[in-house]
Amino acid sequence: MTLPPLIQTIAELRTILDAARADGRRVGFVPTMGYLHAGHVSLIEAASRNADLVVVSIFVNPLQFADDEDLSDYPRDLERDRELAAEAGADLMFTPSVDEMYPFGPVLTTVSVDALAGRWEGATRPTHFSGVATVVTKLLSIVGPCSAYFGEKDFQQLAIIRRMVTDLSLPVDVVGCPIIRESDGLAMSSRNTYLEPAQRAAAPVLRRALDRGLERLGDGERSAAVIAEAMAAVVAQEPLVTLDYAAAVDAEGLTEPDELTGEIRLIIAAQVGRPRLLDNTGATLTP
Ligand code: PAJ
Repeated sequence: MTLPPLIQTIAELRTILDAARADGRRVGFVPTMGYLHAGHVSLIEAASRNADLVVVSIFVNPLQFADDEDLSDYPRDLERDRELAAEAGADLMFTPSVDEMYPFGPVLTTVSVDALAGRWEGATRPTHFSGVATVVTKLLSIVGPCSAYFGEKDFQQLAIIRRMVTDLSLPVDVVGCPIIRESDGLAMSSRNTYLEPAQRAAAPVLRRALDRGLERLGDGERSAAVIAEAMAAVVAQEPLVTLDYAAAVDAEGLTEPDELTGEIRLIIAAQVGRPRLLDNTGATLTP
């Protein structure tokens, strides 16, 4: 298996991709922060099904971490990432340094997706989504893909990126991909590596809470508040898991209606020891 070349500079990547586009090849793009797992792999596989040349970026983006977060010890394993990306169909890996991406230090130009970024994850991480939106805009501008692949695992991030691409008429097709889970239901995440054994055993309670929410919807319950309480009650049974929020929201605007209808998303976030874990699931409700 040939490992994909690691391209470290914007100029070199642009030269290669300009030539590929001139040859009529369609570029697919998967942005990541590395420490790849089966969730990332599924995005790379989706990209390689649809595109002729697949670029995977690995960049632990300082802009999206607050001062007290895990920027300095975010898990990294570039050689393993390279093998997994190769198996999944990546052709090139873009691995810029922080200096390459932000040569003047703090950026003066940022992208923010106001109302969507302030709630849920944004309530506890007020600068996070502006950091994500800014780096994703920059990466899209560097790579110039036809399509870019994001996981539904970070559902609010996906909603923000979709809105940003529409608002700014960015010429890219945003493809959302389903959540990949461990066999016990825990959504895969690079940060699961921080869980101690007892915390790891407790973590699938998030998935069970979502299932309870779906069950209540199946029974005909349409009150967002009642569904939220039903999910919270499941998490409350697990002392190692501290719930931040559990909610039933409109899948596009992520607002909590009184009465649920149409495309909705059950979203949940909790602190489990060191990591903050996120999960979600969708449903289509007929009135
Ligand atoms: P990272 O956490 O590395 O995730 C990269 C992509 O993989 C995101 O689109 C994320 O939603 C997706 N992903 C993670 N776990 C997944 C799972 N279990 N199933 C399916 N997809 C999953 O998200 C980021 O990096 C960054 O914010 C980034 C977009 C790269 C900007 O810096």
